[in-house]
Amino acid sequence: MATLSSVDKDSPRSTTDPLTLIDVDHVRFFVGNAKQSAFFYAYAFGFQVEQVSDLSTGNRQSAQYLLTQGNIRLLLETPLTTEHAAGAELNRHGDGIKDVAFTVFDAQKAWEQARRNGGISAYEPRTVHDERGSVTMAGIQTYGRVVHSFVSRTGGYDLPSLKQGGAFAPGFRKVENFKLNQFNLLHPCGLKFVDHCVGNVELGKMNEWVKWYEDVLGFAMFKHFDEKDISTEYSALMSKVMASGNHLIKMPINEPAEGKRKSQVQEYLDWHGMTPGIQHLALRTDDELSSVAELRSRGVEFLPIPDSYYESVWNRVNKELTSHGHSAVKEDHQRVRELGILVDADDEGYLLQLFTMPLQDRPTLFFEIICRRGSQSFGKGNFKALFQSLEEEQARRGNL
Ligand code: FE2
Repeated sequence: MATLSSVDKDSPRSTTDPLTLIDVDHVRFFVGNAKQSAFFYAYAFGFQVEQVSDLSTGNRQSAQYLLTQGNIRLLLETPLTTEHAAGAELNRHGDGIKDVAFTVFDAQKAWEQARRNGGISAYEPRTVHDERGSVTMAGIQTYGRVVHSFVSRTGGYDLPSLKQGGAFAPGFRKVENFKLNQFNLLHPCGLKFVDHCVGNVELGKMNEWVKWYEDVLGFAMFKHFDEKDISTEYSALMSKVMASGNHLIKMPINEPAEGKRKSQVQEYLDWHGMTPGIQHLALRTDDELSSVAELRSRGVEFLPIPDSYYESVWNRVNKELTSHGHSAVKEDHQRVRELGILVDADDEGYLLQLFTMPLQDRPTLFFEIICRRGSQSFGKGNFKALFQSLEEEQARRGNL
């Protein structure tokens, strides 16, 4: 659960363990043009363009737009000077996710503990404050270009205030009279919070990063899949799912596996400056059908699912569900097919999921829209169907 209430503040763990994660504070993107990206994510996915820090607020280094929906906060940042580190990264990786930031009780203590556990600092603790309160951030380096920031908040900048539309940090101003915000309130996309966040690492590196999440952040392995689970004739990958202690966030880590042709993970790395990074961000909805219908009506492109998929899916999924005493998928089967949604089941229940096409010109980052009905898995049964579809797309781009 990605809510503040999911952490028991009185539990001994939260007072003694500085690495207790309270929430996904925000996800920071480096983009080539934050003003235009804000418009894209607002229109395509229904985010509110809520706050901005740029030249108009005295920020002469970068422009940053805070986009919100449910408990999701995206921070889109573009450099304004050649000295800004984002410039070189954009050149090498294109638009993508730089930082998956966690709210903690004390950012400095979390950063110190992560370093004692073997983590490498991305940047030292820094605090910004004004009469309303303070925000402290400190970062550690994870795979490739990606950073995990720890964020602690006081006074008017605390997380409950932020969730209710309070200021993100000193130096941000509220965006007024942005017409698209009104439209989005009237036409909700229903995205609630970050369900999981998947990273792609190089061949042979998955276990190294699994150990890093265990040692440095105190995560534990939740599930793992090998190439027999996740493969087609041509393409394969291996994946291990790491979860934070309180299951606030799950971070699957993929590495390419041998196949006849290039793995989708390898294609990502090739177009990401041969550097690991975030492959997709899964956003949770309570109603997959209406979310996907709304997103499609806004022009979001999803991975096309082969028609043959629907010839076997209900048999496979409903058989699995009834064998574990669950009732069958309640969503309208015909509508699921029309919207091109994927379905999978396990012993705990089922899930509905769908993957967008890449969100930028490079075949790197994409979103997943996921709805869970009991299942805590990631759609293993869909991997084959999905991969066949992915490979058709890869072939069309000349990258298979
Ligand atoms: Fe996923």
